Amino acid sequence: MTTAGESHGPGNVVIVDGVPPGIPLAEADLEVDLQRRRPGQSHIVTQRKEADAPEILSGVFEGRTTGTSVAVLVRNEDQRSRDYGDIKDLYRPGHADYSFDAKYGFRDYRGGGRSSARETTARVAAGVIAKKIMEHAFGGRVVGYVTQVGDIQANIPDPAAVTLKAVEQRPDGTPNIVRCPDVDAADKMIQLIEECRKAGDSIGGAAEIAVTGVPAGLGEPVFDKIKADLAKALFSLPAVLGVEYGIGFGCVNMRGSEHNDIFTTQANASGDKKIVTKSNRHGGILGGITTGMPIVLRAAVKPTSSLPIEQQTVTREGEPATIRTKGRHDPCLLPRFIPMAEAMVAFVVADHWLRWRGQASN
Ligand SMILES: Cc1cc2nc3c(=O)[nH]c(=O)nc-3n(C[C@H](O)[C@H](O)[C@H](O)COP(=O)(O)O)c2cc1C
Repeated sequence: MTTAGESHGPGNVVIVDGVPPGIPLAEADLEVDLQRRRPGQSHIVTQRKEADAPEILSGVFEGRTTGTSVAVLVRNEDQRSRDYGDIKDLYRPGHADYSFDAKYGFRDYRGGGRSSARETTARVAAGVIAKKIMEHAFGGRVVGYVTQVGDIQANIPDPAAVTLKAVEQRPDGTPNIVRCPDVDAADKMIQLIEECRKAGDSIGGAAEIAVTGVPAGLGEPVFDKIKADLAKALFSLPAVLGVEYGIGFGCVNMRGSEHNDIFTTQANASGDKKIVTKSNRHGGILGGITTGMPIVLRAAVKPTSSLPIEQQTVTREGEPATIRTKGRHDPCLLPRFIPMAEAMVAFVVADHWLRWRGQASN
């Protein structure tokens, strides 16, 4: 996959190569996840208004993928470049303004240009293709959800049991705007996000992504370990400062005897025995290769750096200055981060399945 596009350009485009032929694909399929990523979907996210309607430019004929490159365009609509004129010569603390200037000598400062999360519209659209490959090939499923906002932590007893419905909808049928399936925690998270927004501030958090139905044997033993590829995929998303698998950093104070996941067998519906582990501290990957247990990983997402309150900074010439960022920004990135994380995880898993298919001896 490759993408092209900036926050305030005409649109963002993605090209996906290697898509198997014959997969049913329509623009309406792509819209589902684009709507989950869309700005303006609730009062706790940015109020920028974008229809985010995808246009399939190539690679689909009569409703099915042809096997050639799939290109998707998502046009930008609600750009207000005037909101950003005052950051043209100032560096936003925590954003990519300074490092872009250091690398390129100048930058598209409108909405963060290429460093904007707007770029991920195209990736989210393409992630739907990867989800379809997973589903068709082995009944695989990726579900992401918010586990923490600030100091509010959700209680998720079994990541593999979380459904997309529970992420998107509360038990009473109303939208789960923070995408946390623990509704008590979700209420507190919304309250905290609103407090931060009113104070002109932002707040960080964590997301968990669970992949179920994955067969054992996907991944490579050394350089392209599936966990290395997943980490790169998640770190390629904006604002991610940490990624962990399974028990992650929780392993540091454990003994091997309590950490090891014990192997056992489980019979499937037709009575065939499958090797499984009794617990899943390893997060579904051993030696860079899937074990068939759910892949469970988490990402730490930083608080939005652009703030309407005054912060100290410097100008391009290094003179001390103060900055207040206008424009419309998410007070917490987590709710809209979820479909982005799912898309990137689906890409890696689908890609490794295609590689496995190309090599497998059984
Ligand atoms: C869903 C999402 C929305 C984002 N929206 C904004 C935003 O409105 N304002 C902002 O300053 N940063 C936003 N970001 C984060 C920046 O894109 C990111 O912090 C910046 O590009 C610097 O990259 P880094 O944080 O990965 O180092 C968003 C990130 C995500 C995941």
